[in-house]
Amino acid sequence: CGIVGYIGARQAQDVLVSGLAKLEYRGYDSAGVAIRGAGQTIEVRKKAGKLANLAGELQGAPLAGTLGIGHTRWATHGLPNDTNAHPHATEDGRIVIIHNGIIENYLTLKAELSARGHVFKSETDSEVLAHLIEEKYQQVPGNLYEAVRLALGEVRGAYGIVVTHVDHREIVAARTVSPLVMGVGEGEMFLASDVPALLPYTRKMVFLHDGDMVVLHDDGFRVTDLSGNDVQRAVEHIDWDAEAAEKGGYDTYMLKEIYEQPTALTNTLIGRLHDATGEVNLDINLDPGSFKRISIIACGTAYYAGLVGEYLIEQLARIPVEVDVASEYRYREPLVSEQTLAIVISQSGETIDTLEALREAKKYGAKTLGVINAKGSSMTRELDDTLYIHAGPEIGVASTKAYTAQVSAMLMLALWLARARGTLDEARAQELLHAARELPRLVEEALAPERVAEIKRVAEKYHQARDYLFLGRGVNAPTALEGALKLKEISYIHAEGYAAGEMKHGPIALIDANLPVVVIATESRLLEKTISNVQEVRARAGKVIAILSDGDIENAQHADDVLYVPRAHEMVSPVVNAVAMQLLAYFTASALGKDVDKPRNLAKSVTVE
Ligand code: G6P
Repeated sequence: CGIVGYIGARQAQDVLVSGLAKLEYRGYDSAGVAIRGAGQTIEVRKKAGKLANLAGELQGAPLAGTLGIGHTRWATHGLPNDTNAHPHATEDGRIVIIHNGIIENYLTLKAELSARGHVFKSETDSEVLAHLIEEKYQQVPGNLYEAVRLALGEVRGAYGIVVTHVDHREIVAARTVSPLVMGVGEGEMFLASDVPALLPYTRKMVFLHDGDMVVLHDDGFRVTDLSGNDVQRAVEHIDWDAEAAEKGGYDTYMLKEIYEQPTALTNTLIGRLHDATGEVNLDINLDPGSFKRISIIACGTAYYAGLVGEYLIEQLARIPVEVDVASEYRYREPLVSEQTLAIVISQSGETIDTLEALREAKKYGAKTLGVINAKGSSMTRELDDTLYIHAGPEIGVASTKAYTAQVSAMLMLALWLARARGTLDEARAQELLHAARELPRLVEEALAPERVAEIKRVAEKYHQARDYLFLGRGVNAPTALEGALKLKEISYIHAEGYAAGEMKHGPIALIDANLPVVVIATESRLLEKTISNVQEVRARAGKVIAILSDGDIENAQHADDVLYVPRAHEMVSPVVNAVAMQLLAYFTASALGKDVDKPRNLAKSVTVE
């Protein structure tokens, strides 16, 4: 979602609408603004659909005022209609908030507030937050900042929040997961979820960190932590041009999206896994007892996410799964019935092969579920149920954050099915849910500067290679396939991915001193067997680049180069290991001077057969 805030001498509406237009790439299913007028009121206007709908209405009947907040939404929970659009106000309309993210304990908070007489209009967690702030404000009258701080003290979850109050000429904001940047002007202050919204107005910016709270006034700001202690955040001068700003200061969208993965994964997982109880809540209507087999259908990178899904679902939920590339599925007269669940995986939700395969499955009566990133895309309109991955817009043609989010979604799905079908006891469920919830942190660690530097070094060492081989086993066999795909897509080096144990039946003939072989050998039940495959490569003078878990010094001796990744539970390791694959491909392509965001001959979304 996108946020803009303004306080100063200009008409707030103009700043909000122009800023939101720059943020529309973050979401576009509804938009809204709230503007504090001269007459002690805050007027809220919101509309479903693209920002243009709201902008048109505002043009016809402008809102006057020099303090305002605005929002463009990418619905996570609740339909994208006028009511669910932000901002949200308290009943008396005196407090107006924008809230991104999810309040995990909102049902408890809501019950408590209801018992104390609060009445709710909607089902949203955002409204609960508005009421909680209202109640706190009664405890600390006249101090909006303190009221927000006290309220956040009772909230569990991830959020970006922006708050205004009729009686205050100030904006109070706080963030955990959602990004927020402040723009510093002369006698005016700005707030936005991303730099491009602010560039037309100021180049002096302050990036807020997780856990920061801020109060904006006409002539300045104050940043604190959630305990109320002052925090110093530097004012930076941003000299990016508009295009660089959209890339968040990274050289390419692909690199930006690689680094967005901890946030993307938080958004995929949040509110869905409850490790204390072992419960998985995916908000889908599917009856887990209504099918006997699962058919996963996808293209490209999404297909590899499907292969990981097959492994996870069969291991955990003990349901037979088959995985097809969509273009094959359509024409092979698959055995489908009412007892089949067809799962399509697609970032765009538009890939024509996948869409047609979905129609094919429906024709035979299969139940259908989509694992999709793009809201409102063609597939979502035809699916029985959709599990959104919430990775945010992906612009780089080579998929990165959508892939890791798809794999995480497949993991959640496997856990949900396993719990519903009784194949996973509570203790094991808790262990796996906990491991899954660790993913954003593990991926953050996988992106530590020293690790990235080492991957870059290795990529540059081998960037002249003509071919590459990628090997992995078990749940990481698809990771090897994805690693090879990523490399060939953006560097044009020929690469093959193989199940490590299968190497001896063919690809071993390719091995010589010029062939780099990436072996995914992170901690797993099959590690010893994988190391035997490493020996086979070594015996033929192949160059081994081993992906090892932190602390595995013993196996480092078998490799020419070692890339260490954070230790992760085997079942979640494909997500962590994929990050190393992405960076290896990225730095190889960069060393070769290729256009990584727009590789030749490829398209982000292929809508022709
Ligand atoms: C194209 C892209 C791939 C992507 C595939 C499936 O070929 O270049 O990166 O994996 O389509 O796209 P989808 O949007 O269905 O996930």
